[in-house]
Amino acid sequence: MSTIRLGDEAPNFTAETTEGKINFHEWLGDSWGILFSHPADYTPVCTTELGAAAKYKGEFDKRNVKVMALSVDGLQSHKDWIGDIEETQGTAVNFPIIADEDRKVSSLYDMIHPNSNDKLTVRSVFVIGPDKKVKLIITYPASTGRNFDELLRVIDSLQLTAYHKVATPVNWKYGDDCVISPAVSNEQAKDLFPKGFKEVKPYLRMTPQPV
Ligand code: BEZ
Repeated sequence: MSTIRLGDEAPNFTAETTEGKINFHEWLGDSWGILFSHPADYTPVCTTELGAAAKYKGEFDKRNVKVMALSVDGLQSHKDWIGDIEETQGTAVNFPIIADEDRKVSSLYDMIHPNSNDKLTVRSVFVIGPDKKVKLIITYPASTGRNFDELLRVIDSLQLTAYHKVATPVNWKYGDDCVISPAVSNEQAKDLFPKGFKEVKPYLRMTPQPV
C-alpha cells in the first residue's frame, strides 16, 4: 500500500482486464485517464455506474480521456456481469475492467479501506494527465454512486488549466467565466487572453472561457 498524492506519477502496472492484459502507462499513451474502482460485481449501484461510464464514451473521447474500471472480482465474473449491465443499462461496456483478484492494483492505489471493508475496494477515482501525473483523487463510500457529470466538469477544468492557464471558480460550469492564475501578470494576461479580462481585485481577475 502506498499513499498517492496529487502530482505524483500514477503507479504503473500490468493487469488482466476484460480487454486482455494491459500495461497501464502504455495503454494510456498520450491520453488523459480515469481509473476507478467499484466495490464488487453484481451490485446495484456499481451496475448503474458502469452503465453510465459506458454511455459517456462520446464525451470522454471528445476530451481525449480513456477509462478503466477495477474490482477484486475475477475475469469470468466481470464478463458475465457485463451481460447484465448491457441488459439493464442499455449500453455496451466499452472500456476495460481490471480483474484485481490478487489486489495488486488496488493495493498500489490504496483502494481498499479496512475501516470500510477490508475485502472490497471503495469507490476511488483517479484522473491522470497525459504526463502520467495524478490530477484528481476522489473517494466515495459504497452507498453513493458517482456523478459522471462532475467528473467531466473537473476534467474540463483540468484541461483549461493545462492548456490555457486559467483556473475555474466556485460552481463553475462549462462556458462560464474563468479565473486568471495569480502566476500570470496583467501584461501576460493581455497577450494570453485576447477576449479581455476584468480585474475585480489585483488577485481576482476574471476572463471569458478561452475556448
Ligand atoms: C452497490 O454497488 O450497490 C453496493 C456495493 C457495496 C455496498 C453497497 C452497495
